[in-house]
Amino acid sequence: MRRKLAAGNWKMNGLGADLAELDRLCAAHPAPNCEMLICPPATLIHRAATLAEGTALRIGGQDCHAATSGAHTGDLSAEMLRDAGATHVITGHSERRADHGETDAIVRAKTEAAIAAGLTAILCLGESLAERESGRTLDVIRAQLSDSLPEDFSGETLVVAYEPVWAIGTGKVASLDQIAEVHVFLRSQLLERLGADGDLIRLLYGGSVKAANAAEIFAVPEVDGALVGGASLTAADFTPIVTALD
Ligand code: G3P
Repeated sequence: MRRKLAAGNWKMNGLGADLAELDRLCAAHPAPNCEMLICPPATLIHRAATLAEGTALRIGGQDCHAATSGAHTGDLSAEMLRDAGATHVITGHSERRADHGETDAIVRAKTEAAIAAGLTAILCLGESLAERESGRTLDVIRAQLSDSLPEDFSGETLVVAYEPVWAIGTGKVASLDQIAEVHVFLRSQLLERLGADGDLIRLLYGGSVKAANAAEIFAVPEVDGALVGGASLTAADFTPIVTALD
């Protein structure tokens, strides 16, 4: 049985005062049955991880460099994230693929570095609106998965998040049938590649998940949780999503 995961991606939001939301989240959900994770900006990771010590909350990064150290101004290695107290890191988010030209090869290298540093990588993939409207969704997902997956991984070290680009931050959630189609397809691809171990990889849905739609999304086959953006910024918004998953 795969452990459910409610993950929040704060993106470029949050200052020190906003860490109070983590206190509220832990108070509201002291020991969730599912895994609960918040990925704040890198500037807050260490303080957030210190605050989360001894609670059910895990803290993650939003990206990492593929190198372990060196002349990469402004970047962070996976080891630095782990050293700061992170247990997870998002790789290949569509906003980084778009804003920073991250290719599948770069995403694979980052994901491998994250796993090598002892982090659980949350590998993101998803199609654009044009790709969906032209009927190429599964072809795009197949290629992204195949070209982004690291060489070695397990159910403990890798999570895959399906985030249709056109549903991120738009309020346009993918339909339950659209989510089911891609998640069932992702599972089939993982089973084809890994055999029975492919059933251990958790699959998250991301893209305008809110308290109002979380329960129906979590009832979709092969959905093991969510990667939530806007609705993870406050405990008031995120707690109902965690509760719906618990
Ligand atoms: O990584 C999660 C994010 O891309 C989803 O954002 O605001 O649509 O929940 P949002």
